[in-house]
Amino acid sequence: MVELRDFRTSDCRQLAAWIDGPLELWNWSGHHFSWPLDEGQLAEYAAESSTPVRQSWMAFDPTTDHVVGHVSLRIEAANASGRLGRVLVAPEARGKGYGAAMLTKALDAGFGELGLEQIELGVWDDNAHAIRLYEGLGFACDHVLRDVVQFAGKSWSAMQMILPRSAWAVDAGSA
Ligand SMILES: CC(C)(COP(=O)(O)OP(=O)(O)OC[C@H]1O[C@@H](n2cnc3c(N)ncnc32)[C@H](O)[C@@H]1OP(=O)(O)O)[C@@H](O)C(=O)NCCC(=O)NCCS
Repeated sequence: MVELRDFRTSDCRQLAAWIDGPLELWNWSGHHFSWPLDEGQLAEYAAESSTPVRQSWMAFDPTTDHVVGHVSLRIEAANASGRLGRVLVAPEARGKGYGAAMLTKALDAGFGELGLEQIELGVWDDNAHAIRLYEGLGFACDHVLRDVVQFAGKSWSAMQMILPRSAWAVDAGSA
């Protein structure tokens, strides 16, 4: 239902079009990028993708060839761990299972060809849809960093979730 291909500079315009405001940008990437999200910021990000420290992908539906999402995996080779991030499904494609399918492929790559032992992620603790998606894939909350930052007039807490290789192989079956 979904295939991944490497993220490249020519995808930056498409990616930027999926982010429609500062709150969406914040939900997607925290304070890494600043609003307005211009192609210059994304070009820098694209340049560090597909390197030994980061693998980023665009997800597409092979039946239509439409790009439907984006995901990235930051790799810490020293401890065989990865950090999943920049998870985004095109607004018009949400709620159709693309998020779960895209992350399944990314996790397969992380635990498979990249040989990782553990994959972590951080998600704002009020992002119920994303948390449900991650829990469905087997991620469990490790701890919550409470009130770590102020943005848009409120205090934000970041849930840290972990998926060990053993849980992926046993529970998700590397589907
Ligand atoms: C979070 C996000 C990636 C989910 O992608 P998606 O393609 O809509 O998710 P899926 O259709 O694969 O659904 C996965 C799970 O989440 C649930 N879910 C997703 N969107 C939902 C919604 N709008 N309402 C209720 N549940 C929702 C689904 O029910 C499903 O759970 P289930 O298998 O138990 O039924 C997408 O909403 C998104 O891009 N959000 C903006 C960016 C963001 O918040 N990224 C996360 C940063 S940490």
